[in-house]
Amino acid sequence: MSVFLTLTKEHRLFQQLISRLEHSLRYGEDDARAELRRILLVLLPALKRHEQMEDLIFQDPLYRSDKGARRLLVLVEGQHRRIGALHGELLGLLAQQGQVDFRRLRDLMFVFCEKLRLHFHDEETGLWLHYNQTMSRSLEHSINARASQQVRRLEREIRETWSVVSDYV
Ligand SMILES: [Fe+2]
Ligand SMILES: [Fe+2]
Repeated sequence: MSVFLTLTKEHRLFQQLISRLEHSLRYGEDDARAELRRILLVLLPALKRHEQMEDLIFQDPLYRSDKGARRLLVLVEGQHRRIGALHGELLGLLAQQGQVDFRRLRDLMFVFCEKLRLHFHDEETGLWLHYNQTMSRSLEHSINARASQQVRRLEREIRETWSVVSDYV
């Protein structure tokens, strides 16, 4: 399996969570708040794992030494930071039970979903293509062995976090 199939599989897990986030915005306010909180609690560790996995693949010194790679990495790292900050802001708003205008929360959630989709799109059409053109197949193969292990771990963690937040939130 190529590293791209592994990365695609990983992004698919996130697409499912984003679709679920967007879907929950159609619920009534109380249900939407509860569901948004659950999804964000699942997303938080998943996004950390996403970054770790990408560090494993794209922070390889050989890849990083390429000028084009550094430019693309600056872009996605900036997106990671902004997504993390927005995620924190949303969890903070959700914690202020009923004090925050639900429309404001919903608008911010749409922005968050949009930023996530754009981030995945930029990675797929920029970083992944460039990596494919730059890295040797043998190196890609050895990195993929570790990356696919991380995706399996991510799948398991998402499942486990869902069962915890479904019981307690
Ligand atoms: Fe990313
Ligand atoms: Fe990604």
